[in-house]
Amino acid sequence: MLQKFDERNRDLIVNINGQLVHRDEAGISPFDSAVQGGDAVWEGLRLYEGRIFKLHEHLDRLERSARALSFAEIPPQEKIIDEIKRTLAANKMRDGAHIRLTLTRGVKITSGMDPRLNQSGPTLTLITSKIRRPPPEVLDARIHHANLLNSILAKIEANNAGADDALMLDTRGFVAETNATHIFIVRNGDLATSRVVACPEGITRATVIEICAAEKIRCIETDLSVVDVYGAHEMFCTGTMGELAGVTKIDNRQIGDGKVGPMTKRLSDLYAQRTATEGVQVV
Ligand SMILES: Cc1ncc(COP(=O)(O)O)c(C=O)c1O
Repeated sequence: MLQKFDERNRDLIVNINGQLVHRDEAGISPFDSAVQGGDAVWEGLRLYEGRIFKLHEHLDRLERSARALSFAEIPPQEKIIDEIKRTLAANKMRDGAHIRLTLTRGVKITSGMDPRLNQSGPTLTLITSKIRRPPPEVLDARIHHANLLNSILAKIEANNAGADDALMLDTRGFVAETNATHIFIVRNGDLATSRVVACPEGITRATVIEICAAEKIRCIETDLSVVDVYGAHEMFCTGTMGELAGVTKIDNRQIGDGKVGPMTKRLSDLYAQRTATEGVQVV
């Protein structure tokens, strides 16, 4: 049954970080992790005659979910319960209410996926993540959605392994992309990149493919396995933020001679020529 607006909720008071505010005045920072990447955990609680059914079970699950995502700060249950009590009191609610409890990773210092917001060098080291990218029948990556938890889990794995980023495979075992960028490999002067199966239609990826066509460099879109990657002479990642970034190591295997290769340099220069001259004037 489709829910209808309940007039009793018109002047709902919500609790944001302990501040009780009218629902129309509530806001969270655009830098909040929930806005940036759906990087939050939540519970739906129900109030019956002044009691929240299975409250501790819900708070235990919230805590387990936050631990799985490596949240640095998880408020103690007593603190959360106190805030729930204050919010219910402010709304004079004691029965038949649904409580939406959300815990986010918090406000980021700048936009980005990495929980530590660390800066990588000009080259990247990767590990292959255990976390797979969902196939289109689960969640089509052509939708450039804000729920990045799948990638954030892979990024945490990379951080813990001391690598910059994680290579992610699709459920068939073929390369999808990294947690935040597309990948290209170079072998004998030819390029290959994964098909758009479990990665978004990258704009930088498309630009590299376009540059290759213009320069008559062979570039194919195909299913790539990690063995193809291990055997590459060069590898690089692409994304609007980091442009083209050479990969020097993956799963402790050196790519090529461990330095940014000549094709990566050539394509980076050609990409830089485009960013220096193309684009829509806005200021
Ligand atoms: C999951 C993912 N992969 C790759 C990219 C890089 O795509 P683009 O080259 O369009 O910046 C993005 C960019 O937002 C992304 O979210």
